[in-house]
Amino acid sequence: MPVKILMVCLGNICRSPLAEGILASKLPKEKFLVDSAGTGSWHIGRAPDSRSIATAKKNGLNIANQKGRQFATSDFDAFDYIFVMDNNNYSNVIDLAKNEMQKNKVQLILNEIFPNENVDVPDPYYGMENGFNIVYKMLDEACEVIAHKLIAKHS
Ligand code: 4NP
Repeated sequence: MPVKILMVCLGNICRSPLAEGILASKLPKEKFLVDSAGTGSWHIGRAPDSRSIATAKKNGLNIANQKGRQFATSDFDAFDYIFVMDNNNYSNVIDLAKNEMQKNKVQLILNEIFPNENVDVPDPYYGMENGFNIVYKMLDEACEVIAHKLIAKHS
């Protein structure tokens, strides 16, 4: 059974698809499975935002084949680790948790590089093109730390 990691944002078209692609690229496929979901339902079944696809491509990653889906309570049991992009995602996901074990799986992703600071990955959806580059950099740094930890813990 692979170790399963879920990346969560609001729409599942901008930030979490990038986080999924970046973390998956840093982990061996035989041992780890990375997925993403949104707390909202607007973009179910859709490909990631074209700006996220382009930013990933510039960095050598193909995320074009991902499909948007909504976070479900069954994800608490299906996944070992749940990383959320911002404090709103955190509240929305925690509100769905049934017990402490489920709550403990949920972490703000940037706490991996700024421990306990509860910093948000900014939502780039309504912003400028460069917002996607900034988001990419933040996620790449955080995923580097996550990948090292996961590989050390599960090998
Ligand atoms: P994401 O960005 O949460 O990073 O995927 C968003 C994408 C779409 C919307 C909100 C955030 N929206 O309201 O449609």
